[in-house]
Amino acid sequence: MEATVNVNGVVTSADQAVVSVFDHGFLYGDGVYETLRTYNRRPFFLDRHLKRLRASAERLTIAIPLQDDDFTQRLQATMADVHPSGEVMLRILITRGIGELSYDPSACRRPTVVIIAQAHREIPETKIRTGLRLVVASVLRNHPQSVDPSIKSNNLLNNVLAMQEALHLKADEAILLNHRGEFAECSQSNLFVVRDGKVLTPPLDAGLLEGVTRNFLFEVGTDLEVPVAEAVLRETDLPQLDEMFITSTTREVVPVIRVGSHQIGSGRPGPITMRLLEQFRRRAHETARDPAAD
Ligand SMILES: Cc1ncc(COP(=O)(O)O)c(C=O)c1O
Repeated sequence: MEATVNVNGVVTSADQAVVSVFDHGFLYGDGVYETLRTYNRRPFFLDRHLKRLRASAERLTIAIPLQDDDFTQRLQATMADVHPSGEVMLRILITRGIGELSYDPSACRRPTVVIIAQAHREIPETKIRTGLRLVVASVLRNHPQSVDPSIKSNNLLNNVLAMQEALHLKADEAILLNHRGEFAECSQSNLFVVRDGKVLTPPLDAGLLEGVTRNFLFEVGTDLEVPVAEAVLRETDLPQLDEMFITSTTREVVPVIRVGSHQIGSGRPGPITMRLLEQFRRRAHETARDPAAD
């Protein structure tokens, strides 16, 4: 594994990075995380990711022991020698910490803070030209009163099981339905559709992660005067859709051409999707040159 890792402030290569088996992140998935990428070697929307990290940690009552400036310094120290001529993918993990075999949070004295820095791998342009194939997973997205999908937690079995179904069917991503049978999101991305010139995405109360990229897409739509709104979406809507795409930090905006046996629109990446991707990239690179443009 090619990576540089920072465990509680100590930077090592991937094979030297160690976390205790008594860490509650390992034992119980008791922790939270964020995935970021750089543009022009600056972590993109670091402020938005740290805000969500703190919100997720608060939901689990984990007290994050670092200020935003500390995160900035640790991220820079971890990525300094990674892929010097290219972009970097950064994962921040905060776990409950090391403690006895107990669910009692007071068993752990301090949270563990890990940063993983790796070369960022862009999604292949061929995938953007051909579009993705998705499936609807049989596993449902966690009910918000169970492990709430709005918490970006290390407890990722729900996502893992859905993605396993997609991989088994040689698909690129899995759509998860919520307990009401509506589209919620994908295993590692948010879902958007285009219908009659309008861009629609499932509402937060469908039970999903409020993606940083999802939120940014509303701004990108405004730039292009393309309306972007929330709407309840179901499998029965598939025949009426003109376009579909997914969004995430590492994959930006990627067109979807098929869901199971349904072709979406013309079966080719749609024009509105491609305009949104182009404007997304323009804004991301502008922000990287001038962070005040955030
Ligand atoms: C379940 C899920 N939904 C949505 C997203 C997209 O979020 P973001 O745009 O903040 O990367 C992710 C990203 O990892 C995810 O895991």
